[in-house]
Amino acid sequence: MVVGIDFQMPGGSYQSDPDYVLPENYPAKYVKKVVARGREMTFRPVHPGDNDLMIRLYSAFSKQTIFHRFFTSARIPPSKLSRFTNIDYVRHMAIVSEETKDGAPMITGSARYNTPKDEEGTAEMAIVIGDPWQGNGIGTALLNYLLIVARDCGFKSVYGLVHYDNSAMVKTFEAVRAGGVPYHTADTGTELKFILNLEDPVPIFAFNYVE
Ligand SMILES: CC(C)(COP(=O)(O)OP(=O)(O)OC[C@H]1O[C@@H](n2cnc3c(N)ncnc32)[C@H](O)[C@@H]1OP(=O)(O)O)[C@@H](O)C(=O)NCCC(=O)NCCS
Repeated sequence: MVVGIDFQMPGGSYQSDPDYVLPENYPAKYVKKVVARGREMTFRPVHPGDNDLMIRLYSAFSKQTIFHRFFTSARIPPSKLSRFTNIDYVRHMAIVSEETKDGAPMITGSARYNTPKDEEGTAEMAIVIGDPWQGNGIGTALLNYLLIVARDCGFKSVYGLVHYDNSAMVKTFEAVRAGGVPYHTADTGTELKFILNLEDPVPIFAFNYVE
């Protein structure tokens, strides 16, 4: 079921906080205007001032999207979403896709990686696009960009865990491989693990830079 995004929640303004001061270590070099399949958008690292925009994005996920992203049907309460916007930009990175609607910013998706404590040089990645925007090439472009950032930050590989029935994510990884990023898979017994090799430079194949 696709849930519309034009809903209201009590007390929610859904704006990036205009007074928010970016963290000192905010990696501004990764803020890029891009075009993907004719849509202009910004890819940029998330920051804590995005909390309201993230609440709006997460509130609009269908049950299937939640299940494929979080491996549970439980919806994360808005009060717990700050862990997705408050990150260190080193072991934990998140890039959001942002577009403008009626002059207001909206986050359409988010791709992130997180380095487990006992692992170095690799990280677990995950991606989610809000239901209203799925199927428009944003996921492929955002993943392509996340991989460029991950390699630039020194990662040799990233891996993603995917439900057996998640054909959209499998196709997204296949698009990444067709674009020039090799991967191999492993069956963990409960899901598929896609291990993407970042030893070689990651080609740009799913978007163009505007600036
Ligand atoms: C998987 C996901 C990130 C893909 O993002 P997207 O923006 O919809 O993907 P794109 O538009 O770039 O399409 C990528 C491929 O998936 C396919 N696809 C997109 N939506 C699909 C759907 N509902 N069913 C089947 N295939 C689908 C596209 O056809 C495309 O394949 P192609 O290159 O062979 O044409 C998105 O569907 C999503 O957020 N799903 C829920 C969360 C999730 O599964 N996360 C993965 C955890 S790692």
